[in-house]
Amino acid sequence: MSSFSPPKKYRKTVIIFLDTDKHSSPFDILTAIDLYPDAQFLHYSDVNTRDAKRIIQDAMFPRGPGGAKYTKIFIGGQDVEKALGILEVAKKSMFPPFELAVIVDPRGAYTTASAAVAKTLVLFNEKGFGDFNGKNATVLAGTGPVGQVAARLYAMEGCNVIVTSRKLQRARAVASKINEEIGSEKAFGAQASAPDETAEAVRKAEIVLSAGAAGIQLLPLNVLKDYGKRCKVVGDINAVPPVGVEGLKPTDNGVEFLPGIWGIGALAIGPFKSQIEAELFKRAVESSSGILDYKVAYDIAKSIALPRA
Ligand SMILES: NC(=O)c1ccc[n+]([C@@H]2O[C@H](COP(=O)([O-])OP(=O)(O)OC[C@H]3O[C@@H](n4cnc5c(N)ncnc54)[C@H](OP(=O)(O)O)[C@@H]3O)[C@@H](O)[C@H]2O)c1
Repeated sequence: MSSFSPPKKYRKTVIIFLDTDKHSSPFDILTAIDLYPDAQFLHYSDVNTRDAKRIIQDAMFPRGPGGAKYTKIFIGGQDVEKALGILEVAKKSMFPPFELAVIVDPRGAYTTASAAVAKTLVLFNEKGFGDFNGKNATVLAGTGPVGQVAARLYAMEGCNVIVTSRKLQRARAVASKINEEIGSEKAFGAQASAPDETAEAVRKAEIVLSAGAAGIQLLPLNVLKDYGKRCKVVGDINAVPPVGVEGLKPTDNGVEFLPGIWGIGALAIGPFKSQIEAELFKRAVESSSGILDYKVAYDIAKSIALPRA
């Protein structure tokens, strides 16, 4: 195949956003524009796997192998499974030397979960409780995009993880998927649709992460006080009042908000999430190929938060 290779000076970084939602989110596009104002941005909405195959193939060839190094893909959208479907298409479509660097971060779930888990790990460590291996973590409402990844990261750190949901079946489905992926029985599903069920779900946990939808309180303060006797660190990713954990302020960043319990609120996690996302873009822009997924996002989070990790 003959391919046109323009002189290097004309090569511009181009970031192509493939969003599975009806309207592509401006969030990641604006983040990228501020980081790389000289780059070019293309965005597509409502992308399915068939569209993705065509778009990715059409992005691979026109700039030749040299130009492909400057073309990047960002996969986003609310539906994690659809985003992963597109990632599979990207992996199958690309071959050397026409490989593009691909970031996948559906609706910020990978970077947010990485930020939340790394921040709770650092705090746990700083307060003298060691690492997460063999500890118990509970991810409240861990069935959403952020919670599922956070639960997987806790399990990968060696925690036994309880994932809660208002529906037991949903919680169990997430737990089985995690166990299948990590090849070990670390995750368990539990129903938490009433305070007594939430109490049971946090009773043995040293780490609790509240990962529910915006504006939904999941952990009443009296439940944490009365049943969270083993709890050391609590994180919350919902910044919209009422926040997920009663009594924990969104700006709290390692504050002892109950005796022996330190908390991290959503607005302390948000800036760290943005830092991780910026590093993902940097790696994509600086490398000619590679898949930048939640594992890479979490490695970045740990390398920033625990520089010697
Ligand atoms: N700080 C940041 O930088 C950042 C970035 C991205 C997202 N976020 C926040 O992270 C949180 C999680 O995001 P997400 O997209 O994963 O959330 P999501 O899918 O909207 O919700 C997560 C889970 O919350 C539960 N839920 C929904 N409505 C509920 C209700 N009325 N009562 C009780 N539980 C309910 C659902 O679990 P069940 O149906 O299984 O019970 C759902 O799976 C949100 O608060 C979001 O705003 C923060």
